[in-house]
Amino acid sequence: MAMVATFAQQKGGSGKTTLLTQVAAALIAAGRRVALVDLDPQRSLAGWVDARARARHGELDLAFFESSEWRASGDIRRAGGEADVVMVDCPGAADVLLRAAMRAADLVVIPAQPSAPDAWATRATLKMAAREGALARVVLNRVPPRGGPGETVERLLRDEGAEFVETRIGNRIAFANAFLEGLGVTETPRGGKAAEEIAALTAELRAVLG
Ligand SMILES: Nc1ncnc2c1ncn2[C@@H]1O[C@H](COP(=O)(O)OP(=O)(O)OP(=O)(O)O)[C@@H](O)[C@H]1O
Ligand SMILES: [Mg+2]
Repeated sequence: MAMVATFAQQKGGSGKTTLLTQVAAALIAAGRRVALVDLDPQRSLAGWVDARARARHGELDLAFFESSEWRASGDIRRAGGEADVVMVDCPGAADVLLRAAMRAADLVVIPAQPSAPDAWATRATLKMAAREGALARVVLNRVPPRGGPGETVERLLRDEGAEFVETRIGNRIAFANAFLEGLGVTETPRGGKAAEEIAALTAELRAVLG
């Protein structure tokens, strides 16, 4: 049975699509069969998949489903028939859709930037995941090298029972560049720190998914 990881966060622009594509590329490199499901009408994930198909001269190394609210559950199930890991990209605020995507998930990955508004949105997203009976992990994204409210945000949410992955993702231009090319930073020649972070995040998520 395929494992389903849903990337969700009610706050827009937290890094759902970016981190999903990065982890997907790392899983593919590790030999996993990956299927992606785009539930966001903005279709950013579809853009990455298109760029990847171009970069690979049309030979896409993943399965892709452009889905919508009323087809979500069926598409996630179908995606599971074609892959070891299904990764679901959610829009920001989308109540009914988010619930369906969480219900289908073995793991909900919640990217959050180290800021108060992200912390508040994370709290709401975690509550929703708990109501749907889904295991959830928060990933701190765009973390500055030092300082900032990251520690405070994490402590606050941990006190309420939130679970974080240990890996923190820095604010790195390499992610935006790789996205344009339909790649993961682990697939680019100078992946650097970004590639190290994604390798560590992928290993952690694989451990949680079992
Ligand atoms: N770690 C990072 N370092 C640098 N830029 C980042 C990082 N994570 C995300 N970004 C940038 O932030 C912007 C928003 O990221 P992304 O689209 O992944 O967020 P999202 O949660 O999917 O947004 P939406 O809610 O609109 O779907 C993008 O321009 C992306 O390149
Ligand atoms: Mg997105």
